[in-house]
Amino acid sequence: MVCLTPVVMIENEKINIPAHVAMIMDGNGRWAEQKGKARKFGHEEGMEAVRRVTMRASERGVKVLTLYAFSTENWKRPPQEVHFLMQLPIRFFDRFVPELQEKNVKVNMIGFEEKVPSSTKKAIQNAMDETKDNTGMILNFAFNYGSRAEIVKATQTICQKAIDGQINVKDIDEKAIETHLFTESITPYQDVDLLIRSSGEQRLSNFLLWQNAYSEFYFSDLLWPDFNGDVLDEALLSYKNRQRRYGAV
Ligand code: FPP
Repeated sequence: MVCLTPVVMIENEKINIPAHVAMIMDGNGRWAEQKGKARKFGHEEGMEAVRRVTMRASERGVKVLTLYAFSTENWKRPPQEVHFLMQLPIRFFDRFVPELQEKNVKVNMIGFEEKVPSSTKKAIQNAMDETKDNTGMILNFAFNYGSRAEIVKATQTICQKAIDGQINVKDIDEKAIETHLFTESITPYQDVDLLIRSSGEQRLSNFLLWQNAYSEFYFSDLLWPDFNGDVLDEALLSYKNRQRRYGAV
């Protein structure tokens, strides 16, 4: 769907701001290793980058900023690193909820609750509750998220509804699938408009496969902890020059 978003001036250029920007925040580990530090320092610094980018995206009028914070595949990392990553939402919201409130940002979460420690779930839920009345940008964390698993779950739910007679097989269309994905919670902005990945890697890594069907991609060589609002602006400037045809001519 085409959503109305503001037109803002960046470097004297008029930019139509993409409604839904999604980011694969990659390179924390390499950033730390380059500095001779443990990987957790990269994740720690990555939180600051989250803050910087959130503030700039909100100022620019982005409607939803989805950040890939922990994937269903990240459980394969060493237990200490998984533990550290599970603590990050607690520390992030402890520090930044007042600033998010000030900017009228609303926190949302997509992903599987299972396996996530209850203290982490509680911190996330508190942040969502505290910001639920905010009407500005939605800061949407993909946490314990995997796109294939999301599609499998949606398929199971729809099949069960068909068996129970709640839905006709012939009525299963794109809309029906869309409403069974986690991103239902960010309606009407489920489709990604601009996907950004840091650290020079150019792949999707099981992130919003359905929702990225027509998105524009922007790849930055910067490692995530070095990412900032000006790099986001560069991505927005690059988006300006894209022609989105959705299969038409
Ligand atoms: C990928 O870098 C990054 C992650 C798996 C974690 C992302 C987390 C943050 C950016 C911190 C903020 C999170 C919250 C919830 C506020 P990598 O570790 O794969 O880096 P590498 O590719 O260099 O090893």
